Amino acid sequence: MDRTAQLTARPAERTIAYDPPLPVDSPHVRAARVLEENWTGTSTVPSRSLYPHQWSWDSAFVAIGLRHLSPLRAQTELETLLAAQWADGRVPHIVFNPSVPLDAYFPSPDFWRSSTAGHTAGAPRTVQTSGIVQPPVHALAAWLVHCADPGLSRARGFLARTHPRLAAWHRYLLHRRDLGGGGLASVVHPWEQGMDNSPCWDAPLSRVTPAPARSFRRADLDHGAPEDRPTDLDYGRYVRLAADYRDAGYTDGKGDFAVEDPAFNALLIASEHALARIAQELGAPGTARHARAERLTAALVERLWDPAAGVFLCRDVRGGGLIRERGVSGLVPLLLPELPRDIVTALVSTLSGPHFGLGDTTRLVPSYDLLGEAFDAHRYWRGPAWFNTSWLLERGLRVHGERERAEALREALVETADASGYAEYVDPFTGEACGASGFGWTAALALDLLREPPRLGKAPAHGVSGAGGETFDRSDKGGNRG
Ligand code: SER
Repeated sequence: MDRTAQLTARPAERTIAYDPPLPVDSPHVRAARVLEENWTGTSTVPSRSLYPHQWSWDSAFVAIGLRHLSPLRAQTELETLLAAQWADGRVPHIVFNPSVPLDAYFPSPDFWRSSTAGHTAGAPRTVQTSGIVQPPVHALAAWLVHCADPGLSRARGFLARTHPRLAAWHRYLLHRRDLGGGGLASVVHPWEQGMDNSPCWDAPLSRVTPAPARSFRRADLDHGAPEDRPTDLDYGRYVRLAADYRDAGYTDGKGDFAVEDPAFNALLIASEHALARIAQELGAPGTARHARAERLTAALVERLWDPAAGVFLCRDVRGGGLIRERGVSGLVPLLLPELPRDIVTALVSTLSGPHFGLGDTTRLVPSYDLLGEAFDAHRYWRGPAWFNTSWLLERGLRVHGERERAEALREALVETADASGYAEYVDPFTGEACGASGFGWTAALALDLLREPPRLGKAPAHGVSGAGGETFDRSDKGGNRG
């Protein structure tokens, strides 16, 4: 059997030959193969079975890994997503592939009816999308993708074309979604925050009357084990919230569910810093954006930090208070370099203490409090460990100089991703695979963290190294990457 491998990109791209050649059975090659298999020609599906369209934050994380294999494809991934942006600035959480049968995923395009119900909000006419959003990881991803190959990026005008769309996206979140009036963006559906059935949503969701079970058919249970997925009751509530939003023409500010979430807002802040970098690269000053990111960080601390819990909490804008549940979302602000030192210390101690057990009882960061009443090691976002949140926390630990902890998490992430078959999520104690296998962001982020990206053989014209200049804000102290 051939002991070496080449990672072959599309015909128009170069073939990346590794020197020394990679063994066929290396994690690097296996992760790259997942991205190859999930590539549709213009974007990457999260999973061929469970999620057969393009998902917004998945694509951002995928682009972060894909840049090491093909900067051109990584740029294309983000460009495809941003081409489906609505005129009001929102970037939809799903861009539907018209060649996929309607019954392959629910809610399908005929549920969202974006081009008609979203007409006033400026939904595109030629592509069908959902009407809700997902966390704004995109400017951060665009900046990292640019840094992987600045020559190619400049030659294609990648940042010049994406910057106005990213700026409009942030404007939408900061102006149309400040439903609490304190400067932070609110999510109007648990799917927007991305951690669908987190116990953090239980209280605000309990006010929502579920859509009748007979009014829809779940497609996710055709592919995922019911005990790993959200319950029917939760699903009925997701459907009700989405249908109400659609029936209001996707107008913001009217719905029963509005929550300020720490991870969503921390990602917005990280992306604001990235957008400042992008503006500077394009010759404009980034100072105002950096200053805004700092103001947003102050608002995040002011509105969501809970010193007694040692973690950021969600704020229920409709119910009027902090939600007293510790979710992984409350640790994600560790990503922010300007976080006050006492908060950094508290977050690191919560991460490694009994509630999340990292480096002690758990291999990767669980999605929810190990000591919480609702903890379930297998059910979607109620306990299992997800690779994107661990990737963000690895970065956060590094930003704040916690090199040993970051290194241990990096190793655990890369090993667990590969051993699980690039699972969607895993049991946080054992690493047992849950959900879909061959999951896009798991492969992409593992690829990003493989410590020694193999040296390239004949360096292609534009290079594919992720090294150098890839910090996403002014004070990323993480110089120990690969
Ligand atoms: N995560 C949701 C699902 O499971 C929607 O994005 O379908």
